[in-house]
Amino acid sequence: MKVTVDDDRCRGHGVCCSVCPEVFDLSDDGYAVVDTPEVPAEHEEAVRSAAALCPEHAITVT
Ligand code: F3S
Repeated sequence: MKVTVDDDRCRGHGVCCSVCPEVFDLSDDGYAVVDTPEVPAEHEEAVRSAAALCPEHAITVT
């Protein structure tokens, strides 16, 4: 599974980083960064949750 964050949509709410800090991080300017675009199997559920919970719908999983 792969995950991306749409930089144009992200508003830095940080839900993703709270739900799955192993995959998401916040940049110095406060927007989401994907640390591991190829999501390890053990984090897939958390990444799907993050995508569902992002208020800006900025997270895409494929
Ligand atoms: Fe950005 Fe959504 Fe995460 S707005 S910081 S991708 S919860």
